[in-house]
Amino acid sequence: MAQKHYNAAYLEDTATFLQGLKTYSYKPFLETGSGTIIDLGCGTGIDVLNLSRTLGNQVKVVGIDHDPALLEKGKQAAELGQNVDFICSEATGIPFDTESIEGLRAERLVQHLTQPDETISEARRVLKPGKPLVLVETDWASLVFYHGEITVQQKLIHYLTETKINNGYAARRLTQYLEHAGLQEIKTEIFPFTLKSLKEANDYLWIELILGEMKEKNYLSEQEHKAFVTGLKNADQNKYFACSINIVVVSSIK
Ligand SMILES: C[S@@+](CC[C@H](N)C(=O)[O-])C[C@H]1O[C@@H](n2cnc3c(N)ncnc32)[C@H](O)[C@@H]1O
Repeated sequence: MAQKHYNAAYLEDTATFLQGLKTYSYKPFLETGSGTIIDLGCGTGIDVLNLSRTLGNQVKVVGIDHDPALLEKGKQAAELGQNVDFICSEATGIPFDTESIEGLRAERLVQHLTQPDETISEARRVLKPGKPLVLVETDWASLVFYHGEITVQQKLIHYLTETKINNGYAARRLTQYLEHAGLQEIKTEIFPFTLKSLKEANDYLWIELILGEMKEKNYLSEQEHKAFVTGLKNADQNKYFACSINIVVVSSIK
């Protein structure tokens, strides 16, 4: 597996960019008056803390992740008295009783999973009947650059979806996972994001870093890499840089 394309700083940066979408994804949980909600694959706990602030202390919000260093950031950022908890666990074994949870949310997790069906079944197991399950994913195959170069874009999408990311087409399979696991009232919303500078594309998509990785691993020739990066820089300098990517929010009910 290639180097991870996120870290704590990346999660904080993207949270600002994605705030509207995050807030939208909290909607199915707003009626929760008590009990526990899980944010699975919570990273640094941004959504755990936001949801907790939104829902108040009658509801406990629990962040689960398998990376203890990211969880530690969440623990440190929690405000005194906030009704939150952080648990280190694999997503395939959620440490909660069957039908004990009021809601479950997972953002940009399913793309990393080698066994997505098992994880969605596990999420369904812990949910009480009638309660919401919400998934948020980046559709990497929707990445587009508008500066005229097509072949390298196709190779970039192929590298991201087939090699770099375990489950690179996750966003397009969410409804299928939910349906197979027996979730109901499945609804899809697509949020298109436009990046207007090379800096934004580097900050949010690590684009030059990934192109460099592709060159090192011979997925791109020196010439292809140079021509593509020169095209990106020209577009940026001449102020017509444009790149877009979709993020998908799929909600459902057990
Ligand atoms: C791109 S980050 C998203 C973090 C957070 N949901 C957010 O939106 O800020 C993906 C997270 O999923 C976690 N993760 C990946 N595979 C996992 C697994 N099998 N079990 C538990 N957590 C996992 C990673 O450690 C990471 O924190």
